[in-house]
Amino acid sequence: MPPQVLNALAEQLNHRLEAAAPEVLQMLSALGRRLYFPKGILFQSAEAREKAHRFDATLGIATEQSVPMHLASLREMLGESLPPEEVFPYAPPAGVQELRERWREKMLRENPSLRGKAFGLPVVTSAITHGLSLVGDLFVDPGDVLLLPDKLWGNYRLTFEVRLGARIETCPFYRGRGFDVEGFAQALAREAAEREKLIVLLNFPNNPTGYMPSEAEGHAIVAALLAQAERGTRLVVVLDDAYFGLFYHLEGPTLTESLFGMLANAHPNLLAVRLDGATKEFFAWGLRCGFFTVAPGRPESAEEVAAVFDAKLRGAIRSGISNVSLLSQSLISRALSDSESDRERGEKYALLEARARRAYEVASDPRFRDSWEPYPFNSGYFMCVRIRGVDAEAVRVRLLAQEGIGVIATGGEDVRVAFSCLEIEDVQPLFEALHAVVGDLQ
Ligand SMILES: Cc1ncc(COP(=O)(O)O)c(C=O)c1O
Repeated sequence: MPPQVLNALAEQLNHRLEAAAPEVLQMLSALGRRLYFPKGILFQSAEAREKAHRFDATLGIATEQSVPMHLASLREMLGESLPPEEVFPYAPPAGVQELRERWREKMLRENPSLRGKAFGLPVVTSAITHGLSLVGDLFVDPGDVLLLPDKLWGNYRLTFEVRLGARIETCPFYRGRGFDVEGFAQALAREAAEREKLIVLLNFPNNPTGYMPSEAEGHAIVAALLAQAERGTRLVVVLDDAYFGLFYHLEGPTLTESLFGMLANAHPNLLAVRLDGATKEFFAWGLRCGFFTVAPGRPESAEEVAAVFDAKLRGAIRSGISNVSLLSQSLISRALSDSESDRERGEKYALLEARARRAYEVASDPRFRDSWEPYPFNSGYFMCVRIRGVDAEAVRVRLLAQEGIGVIATGGEDVRVAFSCLEIEDVQPLFEALHAVVGDLQ
């Protein structure tokens, strides 16, 4: 690669980071160091919005009578609720300010341990996948290692290994009926001992298992991370909280808040990054509205670090996708201030919880003991079973061909069932059919 000259604005941002939190500067990838937000069109038009009292000829959109130009037919499809200003123009690269503030308030409401902590204003992403890609931009160089428990969303491999040439190392997810905190701590110690920087990616409630740790497990995970931060490895801890809030406590109480709260401001060598969004929480998968929030280790300089990340993220977003759909942001922003949508979310939660309980009850029936062992689950959209003595892919193919039932073979012996898509009365027949197919194949 030709040598890269740092832009003066990137250099300024890096100097600010060096002064505020030198450990965090060392966590950045080569691209993360190069990123900045230019004083280009957006900067100049923001200035014009404030001061151009005659004509504003800076915008990259078209207007008519000071309203964003738009097609009446598109406007009609949207009804009267949203004015054209909240639909048709570009959104700012870091997202609509009001939405960002409302999402921050939501985070504080739902995560009591975040209160009093210093963390950034959420930056709007094109949902969580894009948040993961931004993690890649900022922190991941070829050859870097990401540590994850071994039940993981397969797309992480595309994002980090295929796209960026990083390497995913895994540790055992379960021990007995719970999360393998010891396995995690050992793997963390092993990986951290070998390197100055390590990225840890945790996804709870988890895809594919539907597992959320207990409070004791949560504390043990945090303690393991802190031990390595104290030992001297710089840790970027990424929390993929896609399924946040969908907690059903099926085998006793679990944590009901993100590990982000416990990790915020915990140690200078630990930067916590939370990725969450409206995708699963608001049942708005296609709206592509998510958030990237940083909580630096040093509370005293957290505001400065968050401001630097804000600029670097705006540069990364502007150069990648430009900005996230304004229509989506307007819809979610309004939903966040609307008690009716709170009530509706509560109803959907209750429905998913009932399905999870039914799946738990049926899958654990001793009649099926010879066909599979259900993995512990308590949250989210999914649960997994470990099929006995038969390859999961063979089961999947046969179940589909013979019974017309689709499940996911997540590798080896594991089959994932999305109870989120099953009506309550469909749960029993699905497991009966699975049992029959496994019996045939055995
Ligand atoms: C663990 C996990 N993270 C991220 C995503 C992607 O979410 P989004 O649609 O918000 O990009 C999913 C979706 O399946 C997921 O299961």
